[in-house]
Amino acid sequence: MAKEFLPGMRKDYGKDSLTKESVHPDPMMQFEEWFKAAMKSDGDEANVLTLSTLGEDQIPEGRIVLLKFYAEDGFTFYTNYSSNKARQLERHPYASMTFHWKSQERQVRIKGSISKVPTEISDAYFNERPLGSRIGAWASPQSQEIPDREFLDDRVEEIQEKFENQNNIPRPDFWGGYLLTPVKIEFWQGRPSRLHDRIVYDLVDGQWATKRLAP
Ligand SMILES: Cc1cc2nc3c(=O)[nH]c(=O)nc-3n(C[C@H](O)[C@H](O)[C@H](O)COP(=O)(O)O)c2cc1C
Repeated sequence: MAKEFLPGMRKDYGKDSLTKESVHPDPMMQFEEWFKAAMKSDGDEANVLTLSTLGEDQIPEGRIVLLKFYAEDGFTFYTNYSSNKARQLERHPYASMTFHWKSQERQVRIKGSISKVPTEISDAYFNERPLGSRIGAWASPQSQEIPDREFLDDRVEEIQEKFENQNNIPRPDFWGGYLLTPVKIEFWQGRPSRLHDRIVYDLVDGQWATKRLAP
């Protein structure tokens, strides 16, 4: 294994800048502006984010999930309610989301509390998913140990047979959405010489307050 730094891996940033005066007073509006820009540059990968949760052993765990909805009240992703992350969220209903929009030289970090979205909203989203993903949700005991790939293929076949004569595959009750209600959102814009711009919004007594942090 190489026992040296990775000297060539250094990129200087300088596409844009950020000030307390230039950001929107409402962080959700600021998020929307950046998300739209990211959709233009990163296409259907703009909604990729790292979700961090707290393990029972008090060690944080991160994994990628997809943002499926955002509105004034927060940010929604979908998953298996019996998965490792879901068990962690049941125990400790707080999480953080981190977006990295490489081509924009931007990062957004969000933290807040977690709740399940209403079942009718999960139903509506599930029904929009492609057939293969709907079957996949039924077939996969997410985060559980399985013997081999064949186990999954057999599960898919079983599920296909189970719903063979039904027009509609219903949402399994072990699968659905979580809403993260933010209490803090940080916008990070890369700047030259690692002197980046960081503007943080904190929710204080129901109002968003902004401050600039050193990079
Ligand atoms: C690009 C990408 C998108 C993903 N989207 C989701 C998602 O929206 N929901 C989800 O449950 N897992 C998604 N995953 C898989 C998760 O990263 C993870 O493997 C899975 O949710 C199990 O995590 P857990 O064992 O911590 O619960 C995605 C992975 C990648 C690489």
